[in-house]
Amino acid sequence: MGLKSDSIVINGGKRLEGRIEVRGAKNLATKAMVAALLGDTPSLLKGVPEISDVGVVRGLLEVYGVKVTSPAPGELSFDTSRVESAHFAEIDAHAGASRIPILFCGPLLHRLGEARIPDLGGCRIGDRPIDFHLDALRQFGAVIEKGFEGIHLTAPDGLTGADIELPYPSVGATEQVLLTAVLATGTTELKNAAIEPEIMDLIAILQKMGAIISVEPNRVILIEGVERLDGYNHRALFDRNEVASWAAAALVTQGDIFVGGARQTEMMAFLNVFRKVGGAFDVQEDGIRFWHPGGDLKPVTIETDVHPGFMTDWQQPLIVALTQAHGVSIVHETVYENRFGFTEALNEMGAEIVVHKEGLPDHPRRVARRDFEQAAVITGPTKLHGANIYVPDLRGGFSHLIAALSAEGQSVISNIGIISRGYEHIIDKLETLGADFVYEG
Ligand code: EPU
Repeated sequence: MGLKSDSIVINGGKRLEGRIEVRGAKNLATKAMVAALLGDTPSLLKGVPEISDVGVVRGLLEVYGVKVTSPAPGELSFDTSRVESAHFAEIDAHAGASRIPILFCGPLLHRLGEARIPDLGGCRIGDRPIDFHLDALRQFGAVIEKGFEGIHLTAPDGLTGADIELPYPSVGATEQVLLTAVLATGTTELKNAAIEPEIMDLIAILQKMGAIISVEPNRVILIEGVERLDGYNHRALFDRNEVASWAAAALVTQGDIFVGGARQTEMMAFLNVFRKVGGAFDVQEDGIRFWHPGGDLKPVTIETDVHPGFMTDWQQPLIVALTQAHGVSIVHETVYENRFGFTEALNEMGAEIVVHKEGLPDHPRRVARRDFEQAAVITGPTKLHGANIYVPDLRGGFSHLIAALSAEGQSVISNIGIISRGYEHIIDKLETLGADFVYEG
């Protein structure tokens, strides 16, 4: 599922044009795979992307005795009839590769009475702590011991529904609560929950399995625990982040890309900004066409936020497009404390981006206590030229890729394996869109 070679040579300056397809969202499919652990009968997930994060979760499920097969391309089935404890060495082999293992806590406590979670990975975009997760699990009755190798959880008195209020509408912590509460005794009330479309899709999956979950006004979710759950049959929600990435690629390269599988409703916040910057799009039944209609791109001021706001994962590819806008754009990051590291490489390529640690006046900082990087000010248009770039993280990496595709001259981009954590068949897609590159795969 990963890429064979670690670097790609790109000859920039070519329009990307053509049709590509996106499949299920990385940030849903991997959670749906964990949910399968809760079912007494087999589950079938459709639209599963071939990305390395899916491989990591699959490996971990197999360590616990889940039989994972692929009945058809893009489909995974999970047989949970032989779930069993695993040796720590086997679990630890999956350490550092992804953040998803933290979501195994509730399901493993229900199935096995204990859970061992290795050190987590994921993109380095801030501290990315797990305190909300652990606090919520404790409220359900879990006992948590932290060691050098990770954490060990038990539930001597079982797991009981709780009243939980998250300090921030965290996606992962909301999923943690859902995956734990569905089989806990009694009712759980979760306040300040995340309500991203991926969360709604996870709730749909759990409902198919037999769970009773109601989404109330004002970020409240009520979960009535049930005694057992069945498996599910579900097609994963499309990957919104991949859609936004290709849309930005169309804009940056003055191209025209039809993204099959994209839907409008879940992308509204992005589409508004895309239009304001000067991009054109056409929503069709089977996808969305994105293109650069000619004329100058316009600067924007945006703030990343939880749903229904502008997603943090969309800002990196968009910033590449903003280097071509006429005027000063401001992107204020409010979700993560350090998600502008990738702009350094853009500056090396000729962009003019200044990152302000102080944030912006009139914008209260969620993470005020620490010295976080908060706002990027992008002055355009600037001509981008080729460079040698080492990709730092998933979304930043994609941004470097599209910057290189639009730049004058040649770029060598290394550590591109990281991009396959979240972008399926990236090399094939670049080929389909007519990019000029050399990749020794
Ligand atoms: N946070 C805490 N404590 C916690 C959990 C989160 O302080 O226990 C903080 C984080 O440090 C961050 C904020 O809360 O500042 C939001 O984090 P959240 O928990 O919402 O994010 P996540 O669940 O770790 C998922 C996606 C991210 C996406 C965010 C926001 C997955 C695997 N990851 O992360 O996706 O940016 O939600 O929508 O679902 C990506 O795909 O590139 C990616 C990073």
